[in-house]
Amino acid sequence: MIYQIYPRSYQDSNGDGIGDLLGIVQRLPYIASLGVDAIWISPFFTSPMKDFGYDVSDYCDVDPMFGTLADFDALVDTAHKLGMKVMIDLVLSHTSDQHAWFTESRANRTNDKADWYVWSDPKPDGTPPNNWLSIFGGSAWQWDARREQYYLHNFLVSQPDLNFHNEEVVQAVLNATQFWLDRGVDGFRLDTINFYYADNELRDNPPLPAEERNANIAPSVNPYNHQMHLHSKNQPENLEFLRKFRALLDQYGAAAVGEVGDAQLGLDLLGEYTAGEDFVQMCYAFELLAKDTPTPERLAQVFAKVDEVAADGWACWAFSNHDVMRHVSRWNLTPAAARAFCTLMMCLRGSVCIYQGEELGLPEADVPFEALQDPYGIEFWPEFKGRDGCRTPMVWEPSNQNGGFSAHQPWLPVSNEHLQMSVADQEEDPAALLHHYRRAIAFRRAHPALVAGDHSGVQATDDIVHFIRMAKGQQIFCAFNLSDSPTALTMPDGNWQPIGAELGSAHPSADGKLHLGPWQCALALHV
Ligand code: BGC
Ligand code: MG
Repeated sequence: MIYQIYPRSYQDSNGDGIGDLLGIVQRLPYIASLGVDAIWISPFFTSPMKDFGYDVSDYCDVDPMFGTLADFDALVDTAHKLGMKVMIDLVLSHTSDQHAWFTESRANRTNDKADWYVWSDPKPDGTPPNNWLSIFGGSAWQWDARREQYYLHNFLVSQPDLNFHNEEVVQAVLNATQFWLDRGVDGFRLDTINFYYADNELRDNPPLPAEERNANIAPSVNPYNHQMHLHSKNQPENLEFLRKFRALLDQYGAAAVGEVGDAQLGLDLLGEYTAGEDFVQMCYAFELLAKDTPTPERLAQVFAKVDEVAADGWACWAFSNHDVMRHVSRWNLTPAAARAFCTLMMCLRGSVCIYQGEELGLPEADVPFEALQDPYGIEFWPEFKGRDGCRTPMVWEPSNQNGGFSAHQPWLPVSNEHLQMSVADQEEDPAALLHHYRRAIAFRRAHPALVAGDHSGVQATDDIVHFIRMAKGQQIFCAFNLSDSPTALTMPDGNWQPIGAELGSAHPSADGKLHLGPWQCALALHV
């Protein structure tokens, strides 16, 4: 159970309107009070912040905006004292164009780092070497007049892709990893883990038939969805890198969750990358970050696929993060529905990750065009408004300046609607979602079958999604009515004792029928 922190927006401690590491330290007791096992902090490394830290210009330092290495050490120390592990976000696939490696690499074609990035001559007609597209819009190739060559960028022009075919690059990123392991981090979230290698021959990607396109990764207005990314990512060499990465992790007993972004092959890659003990322990899946509300049928489909291609693998599920519209808005959830999805999440097989503010039920904030920061949103506005609406500051108090986030004007405006949903107000209100999250997290923690157990397969019966989680000596039946109408289900055979009263769990009637109210769950222990 992981809690994701977007450091720019968690807590500002020095009054510059931008969250920072000491701000996080200040709020760690609150995070610990949720009952989470670990925190994942989005990037805080030195960066020109063109992609808000996902463009790193020094892997081994803290950006002054966020604090110092000493602040980071204090953060790790405090988190550990509170019983939480610390995972940091390694963005290894690309660097910032301000990184010293790139400055050197782009200077000419003969320097020591000439081959550290993916460089290519133009086609004879001067156009880019192939048809690859950047997720953030336009060609994935940028012309560089110094070398008279193109370089590859899967994201912004200012995020050149490292060339992992070069063994020195592999060593350099492993050294950066070790730097943080030596500072005491417990694990990593690995950004865009399936983008590390590009096809050596730079072959064109084939088009993807319109009926196979989906907007799981990129919004539907993005032409990136028109290609099958056969050669620009998902290369088999990724596994060889992950093997080396895992060997390093194992020396420290550390763990990693790899982000696998692929609208078609995501779960297959999850299966490959988490199989056995050689690669990463977990992969962060996009299926439940999708635009459409997960129906029982869809959940059954997703988990059937996981059971098929990742039987001995391990997913990490999330409904919200710093890249997608907050799920309360994305799925248009009522408070009862938000509660049901929270409980469901805590019962799923796999690790789970919640995103700051999710525990408050925050909706997507409305950020006007003039206040937009995210280059992705600026590019595709207004059809896609980008990621600022899920990145606005955390709301701690209703009345204090900027919700208690900062004494100075925040980098993104605090939503007025959010001010009514602050931590302080919810702490006072026993009926608030925040307490439901705490109870659901505690419920998961108290049941080994939910934390690490297997499952019987996810079933859909009309509006109900149900399954049995099992670990040695423990079986838990879980059912959720994902609709606004009452419904019923027959209990599986055996003796089941209702549990989870604190989560509003229903009791089966004497005839073995389970009657579920709208958005109600039923949780029962096999006895
Ligand atoms: C991160 C994004 C980032 C991108 C490029 C991701 O998937 O989550 O926030 O823009 O990688 O690094
Ligand atoms: Mg600050």
